[in-house]
Amino acid sequence: MRLILLGPPGAGKGTQAVSIAETYSIPHISTGDIFRQALKDQTPLGMKAKEYMDKGQLVPDDIVIGIVQERLEGKDCEKGFLLDGFPRTTEQAKALDTILEGKGTPITYCINIEVPFDQLILRLTGRRVCKNCGATYHILFNKSNEEGICDKCGGELYQRADDSESTARERLAVYQKQTAPLIEYYERIGKLVTINGLQSIDKVFNDIKDALRGSY
Ligand code: AP5
Ligand code: ZN
Repeated sequence: MRLILLGPPGAGKGTQAVSIAETYSIPHISTGDIFRQALKDQTPLGMKAKEYMDKGQLVPDDIVIGIVQERLEGKDCEKGFLLDGFPRTTEQAKALDTILEGKGTPITYCINIEVPFDQLILRLTGRRVCKNCGATYHILFNKSNEEGICDKCGGELYQRADDSESTARERLAVYQKQTAPLIEYYERIGKLVTINGLQSIDKVFNDIKDALRGSY
C-alpha cells in the first residue's frame, strides 16, 4: 500500500500516521520529522530548513524532493509507504509521480483529512510533543496522564517553535495557497479519499481503515 496523507497543519496527519503505519506495516515518512531531526542533529540541511520552518514557509521544492526520492529508495519502501506532509506543492506531486512511474508503483490512495480552519488554530497552539520519542499530545483533546510528561516513555513534552499562534496562521495561509490545490490534483486521477477529521482520533482512524478496506 502506497499512501499519501494530505491535510492542513493540525488536521491530525501525524497522529493518524502512527496507527496507519503500524496497522499496515509500512514505513511512516514525514518530511517535517526529517527536518526536525536534521535540526536537532545540527546538520546543514537542518539549519537550512529552519530558515523556512520558523517563518511557517515551505522548504524549497528541490531540497524536499531530493530527500524523499532518496528515502523511497530504501529497502523498507518496497512493501509500500506512508507519506506524511509530502507532497505539498504541485511541483512536488509531479516529481513524486515521475519517481513512482519510473518504478511502476503508483500511489494507491491520497487520504485527505478535512478539518475546519478555526479548529486547526486550537489544535496547533495546544499541541505538545515528546522530546524523546516524538509522541503527540494536546492540552485539551489528547492529554498525557501526567502534565508535561509522555505516557509512552516518560520524556518531557514541549511546544513546537512553529506552533505559536502567528506562525500557525502563516502555515495555514501557505497551506491554502500552495497545498490545497493538490486535493483537486488527486481527485482528478481518482486517488482521493476524503475523511472527516472533526471526530475523535479513534473514529477518524476507523474511517481511514474502512476506506482502505479491499485495497490491502
Ligand atoms: P510538518 O511537520 O509536516 O507540519 P504540518 O503539515 O504543518 O502538520 P502538523 O505536524 O502541524 O499537523 P498534523 O496534521 O500532523 O497534526 P497532528 O497529528 O500533530 O511540517 C512542518 C514544516 O516543515 C512546514 O511548515 C515546512 O516548513 C516544512 N515542510 C515539511 N514538509 C514539507 C514539504 N513537503 N515541502 C516543503 N516544506 C515542508 O495533530 C495536531 C494536534 O491536534 C495534536 O495536538 C493532536 O493531539 C491533536 N489532534 C489530532 N487529531 C485530533 C482529533 N481527531 N481530535 C482532536 N484533536 C486531535
Ligand atoms: Zn515519549
